Amino acid sequence: MAAVTGGGSGIGEALCLALAGAGMRVAVIDVSADRAAAVAQRIGVRARPYPLDVTDRRALDAGATRVERQLGPVRVLCANAGVVMPFGSVIERDEADWRYVLSVNLFGVVHTVDAFMEQLRRNVGKAHVLVTSSMGGLVIGGHIPLGPYTVSKYACVGYCEELRAALAEQGIGVSMLAPGVVNTEIMHNSSETRPGALGSQPPPPRQRGYVSPRLAAMAVTPVQAAETALAGMRDNRFYIPTHIDAAETLKDHFDTIVDEMAGQGQAGGLDA
Ligand SMILES: NC(=O)c1ccc[n+]([C@@H]2O[C@H](COP(=O)([O-])OP(=O)(O)OC[C@H]3O[C@@H](n4cnc5c(N)ncnc54)[C@H](O)[C@@H]3O)[C@@H](O)[C@H]2O)c1
Repeated sequence: MAAVTGGGSGIGEALCLALAGAGMRVAVIDVSADRAAAVAQRIGVRARPYPLDVTDRRALDAGATRVERQLGPVRVLCANAGVVMPFGSVIERDEADWRYVLSVNLFGVVHTVDAFMEQLRRNVGKAHVLVTSSMGGLVIGGHIPLGPYTVSKYACVGYCEELRAALAEQGIGVSMLAPGVVNTEIMHNSSETRPGALGSQPPPPRQRGYVSPRLAAMAVTPVQAAETALAGMRDNRFYIPTHIDAAETLKDHFDTIVDEMAGQGQAGGLDA
């Protein structure tokens, strides 16, 4: 039995389909009732939709109880729901934006894991948690300022590393999916699900489904991302990137950190 947050679209939808294809019953959890229902319907008798908001801890606890009663205790938990904002730097956002992005991308993950923890414990030895973070949580892709999104994903990486250590002693596996660019409707969906009380956010820069040619060239499909995630979980790998060139980018990033720590600064500085 599997549960997937953000299961109504993109990577989450593909995870639901892949897990159902592997013979599991699937709880499709999404803040969008329509999207959750559509994915559950597509899968058929193996799936049920659960319209739940991962920022609402109480609703998620009650939903987790319902999931167990209807489908059994969760063995594979995918904390995948996430939102992004139109591109922009950290100095262009007000506090409401910060709180919203962190409430979904960080606290949504924490709430999801907490809500299902007892069920995972009942499946000890074969239970697994997959958290969808981002390559943007391991290294900043300098050319695209994602502001609070990047910060939320860096925090999510820290959470995952702590979670792995905490659950290793309890016999529950943890993996972190680190997608690069995946061709989904995340810009559109994030505008649509943003609570009205937070005020409007600029619309996605282009029409629905649009991915710039440069990003499109790098993008993988949600199905590819889900297949990579499942293969990684089967091998009990912790870091699961969707893009094989990620290792090179990370190596450059950490080399720069080590060089700077060793005293090789840059032009400028306090006395410039
Ligand atoms: N698409 C990419 O290029 C990319 C890259 C790196 C990381 N990611 C991460 O992958 C995950 C999935 O993103 P995607 O690209 O498939 O996006 P998507 O918009 O296609 O799917 C995300 C789903 O999460 C749901 N959701 C949003 N807020 C929610 C909430 N509060 N409670 C429950 N559900 C909620 C949305 O309704 C949507 O159906 C996210 O965590 C995202 O940050 C995506």
